[in-house]
Amino acid sequence: MEKLLIRGGRALEGEIRISGAKNAVLPILAATLLGDSPSSVGNVPHLKDVTTTMELLGRMGVSLTVDDQMNIEVDPSTIQDLTAPYELVKTMRASILVLGPILARYGEANVSLPGGCAIGSRPVDLHVRGLEAMGADVRVEGGYIRARARRLRGARLVLENVTVTGTENLMMAATLASGTTVIENAAREPEVADLAAFLTAMGAHIEGAGTDCITVHGVERLQGCAHRVLPDRIETGTYLVAGAITGGRVRLKDTRPDTLDAVLVKLEAAGARLSVGTDWIELDMQGRRPRAVDVRTAPYPAFPTDMQAQFTALDAVAEGSATITETVFENRFMHVQEIRRMGADIRVSGNTAFVRGVERLYAAPVMATDLRASASLILAGLVAEGETVVDRIYHIDRGYDCIEEKLSQLGADIRRVPA
Ligand code: EPZ
Repeated sequence: MEKLLIRGGRALEGEIRISGAKNAVLPILAATLLGDSPSSVGNVPHLKDVTTTMELLGRMGVSLTVDDQMNIEVDPSTIQDLTAPYELVKTMRASILVLGPILARYGEANVSLPGGCAIGSRPVDLHVRGLEAMGADVRVEGGYIRARARRLRGARLVLENVTVTGTENLMMAATLASGTTVIENAAREPEVADLAAFLTAMGAHIEGAGTDCITVHGVERLQGCAHRVLPDRIETGTYLVAGAITGGRVRLKDTRPDTLDAVLVKLEAAGARLSVGTDWIELDMQGRRPRAVDVRTAPYPAFPTDMQAQFTALDAVAEGSATITETVFENRFMHVQEIRRMGADIRVSGNTAFVRGVERLYAAPVMATDLRASASLILAGLVAEGETVVDRIYHIDRGYDCIEEKLSQLGADIRRVPA
């Protein structure tokens, strides 16, 4: 397994481009299956999860072509197999996103139950219950979700939990249902709104995407369309923290500042000077050490759980003490024991980490456990004394496009070595 070697101590300076959003491109690629004709998707990030999704669609018989700009053309008309197999779903839980589209379009779907993962049990009961409420016959047997429906019918769904992919699956399924579907307590993430924009361009009738109540008026057919994926707000937040933790000055372009307000507020509280335009953000720490900030994660527009690990690393070297409370997932502090091995003073009790900032972290061999935890270990390595070795970096490649190139552009001393 490849490793990343990071020699800490440099303040990051410079400008990089933000890639398209992982958590928008995955549902949008699934949504192409709803169409009677080809779609083209632009601003696609170069990520393992995108490759896995393309492999899944290819395995189903869908035709895909990719150009050198990572624009993907998907022709769903050649689909043959309505099954998402375990050996692919176990590597990427987001494969569950093909369930709604193929059930709605073809009346049948066999999708492997995604297992849990490092950050939690990650059930999909709300996806299944929503489809049943829309008239689907769903059986869970042999580790697969087997769903059948001649034609889904509109229903009023009240989601017990705010679920991002649950909202996305049910919104996609509703586009071809007969009648109107109302999804209450819907996820409000910008990636849900971007998916709704794609579906609307295909001919769907959707109101309220981006709010907690989404209404979908079903139609008979959808056609392919062209769409450019919105920028990745979590990648943006991660590089802003890289600038803040090293006391540097970074400028991020091709991003959407209006999609991460809760993160920008916390960065200013940590002492960062921010300036923003419509598609760029500049952070300047003026060489200062960050101040510790309290964080409590919750569904959008509150502070994102996907930025929790990065702020744990920031607080670990900040001035003062702070608490980090994780309310979305039940086990998202695996990065803590790794950062403690670098000298951090963090104690976890229940769903809260109590962090006392230290002057200095020290390089150590550490191990990535999940995507955002691995980002936090890299951030810690950027300020640790010595050379930090981050192992199992296949986690990082799932969600960050060319991370060592982008950090090197900002002046970091980071390199990838074969295991
Ligand atoms: C999406 O995961 C993201 N993934 C995650 O990003 C993100 O952390 C998460 O939303 C929360 O923002 C994609 O969009 C591909 P949920 P998702 O369903 O949809 C419970 C990353 O790092 N729940 O919103 O799987 C669940 O257990 C990844 O990019 C049910 O109980 O998350 C959790 O506690 C990690 N039943 C809570 O809801 C269900 O049927 C939120 O989960 C579904 C979810």
